[in-house]
Amino acid sequence: MVRFGPSKSNTLEITDISASTKNILGLQLPTDPRWVNLAEKSLEEILTDHAWCEQKAASSCVSIIQRYSEQEELVRELSPIVTEEWGHFRMVLAELQKRNLKLGKQRKDAYVNQLLAFHKKGGYWKDRFLDTLLMMALIEARSCERFKRLSEGLKDEYLRNFYRRLMESEAGHYTLFIELAEKYIDREKVRLRWQEWLEEEAFIIGQLDLRGDRIH
Ligand SMILES: [Fe+2]
Ligand SMILES: [Fe+2]
Repeated sequence: MVRFGPSKSNTLEITDISASTKNILGLQLPTDPRWVNLAEKSLEEILTDHAWCEQKAASSCVSIIQRYSEQEELVRELSPIVTEEWGHFRMVLAELQKRNLKLGKQRKDAYVNQLLAFHKKGGYWKDRFLDTLLMMALIEARSCERFKRLSEGLKDEYLRNFYRRLMESEAGHYTLFIELAEKYIDREKVRLRWQEWLEEEAFIIGQLDLRGDRIH
């Protein structure tokens, strides 16, 4: 079964999810269970990659606000998310510093680049707007799924709790992006395009190398 659409209890559902990740947030392909073990072996790399993901989440929200500044509700709803994502960045940065690890350089993000290739480039602005919101929702959903893996599979109890809190936060973001899409665009259209994005994302995840130094 593919679940679609946000609900008020979304965060609760996620925290209650059992071993199978098949249905989390509608994602079609669960993460390979070996990923968390690989990630644990390259903590500096995974924390660095994660820090950049949070930074990019904040800057993407800023650029969406700039691009769609006339959409008042969008601006109102996304402004606090910028602060939240930047807060996440600072949290991950603190974990790196605590361990005497370095932030390091930004890496090429194959996952996001492949998603971007699927994003509509021309045509009606609302179709591109919809793709932007759904792509953001999808990255939040996959991040949430990966954080869940970390929150369950890491040996370090402190980091397990750290990722559990982040998982809940990203689940809320996923919901917000879908809700925003439904505010501006016909629900059926949103649903149909979301299905297309889910299929594309499963294909992308399926053919990316399983790397412990990448969140995605
Ligand atoms: Fe975040
Ligand atoms: Fe987020």
